[in-house]
Parts: sequence; C-alpha cells; structure tokens
Amino acid sequence: MLSDTERQNIDRELSHYADPRAGCVEAMKIVQRERGWLSDAALADISERLGMSREELDSIATFYNLLFRKPVGRHVVLMCDSASCWILGYEKLLEHLRSRYGVGFGDTTADNRFTLLPSQCLGACDGGPAMVVDDDLHRDLTPERIDGILERYR
Ligand code: FES
Repeated sequence: MLSDTERQNIDRELSHYADPRAGCVEAMKIVQRERGWLSDAALADISERLGMSREELDSIATFYNLLFRKPVGRHVVLMCDSASCWILGYEKLLEHLRSRYGVGFGDTTADNRFTLLPSQCLGACDGGPAMVVDDDLHRDLTPERIDGILERYR
C-alpha cells in the first residue's frame, strides 16, 4: 500500500497530466525516493493508483537507468560509459574502483555505501572522465580525485 506521503506526492504530480499513466515515471521516482528501490510490491502499489499493470511499469522501469529494480547502496555512482570518457581514461577509474572498493558495474560495496552503474554520456565530455554521485556531477576524474570525492558521501 502507498504511504500517505507517497500518495500525496503522486497525486500532486498526476494533477499535471490528463492521463495518470503519463505520470508513471515520476510516480516511480517518488516511491523510489521513499523506499530506496522499486520492488515488485512497490510496482503493484503504484499500478493500483495509475491503472496500469505491474508488467507495464516493469518494462518502463527497466528502460530508465535511474529507476532501480534491485536494492542499491546509500549512494549511486553513475560512471559515464561513452566515447569521450573512454578516450580520456575511464578504464583506469574502473580498475581503481574494482581494486580499492571491490566493485564493477552493477555491484554494491560490501558496506552498502555505493552502487556503481554505467551511464550514457553525462553531458560533460569536455571534462571527462565524469561521473554523477546521487545528484552531483564530478568532472576531470583521476583515481586520486575519486577517493577524495567519495569520501564526502557517507
Ligand atoms: Fe562522458 Fe560525455 S562521453 S560525459
């Protein structure tokens, strides 16, 4: 069942649309913000409110890389996995994250602090390699700089 907060926030969002289904991505983001990720039960709760099937929501959720169908760590690290960042040395960053934090794409650190995910171009090609941690963009990354940046996210 949706919580009162989830229901109120979803209803506020849906007031912008003639068809409630048009607000499904925002509705899923709202529930994800409260619960951390979108379980099958979460999709069932949302489907009731929107008049969509759970399968329809699942197909949309799995298309958007910022909607999580599995549990994630407290912070999500989106590492740019596109051409400019490849050229500017993102492989070194991946190696560093693997050796220092024990994670590759799709993994969560043992302390549940970070989940590492690939991302399409983050729009910071002139400052690559680049990553987003939660809502923050970080540019001109090196293995040394990554440690200092991640230190800020507890
Ligand atoms: Fe990495 Fe554009 S290719 S930010």
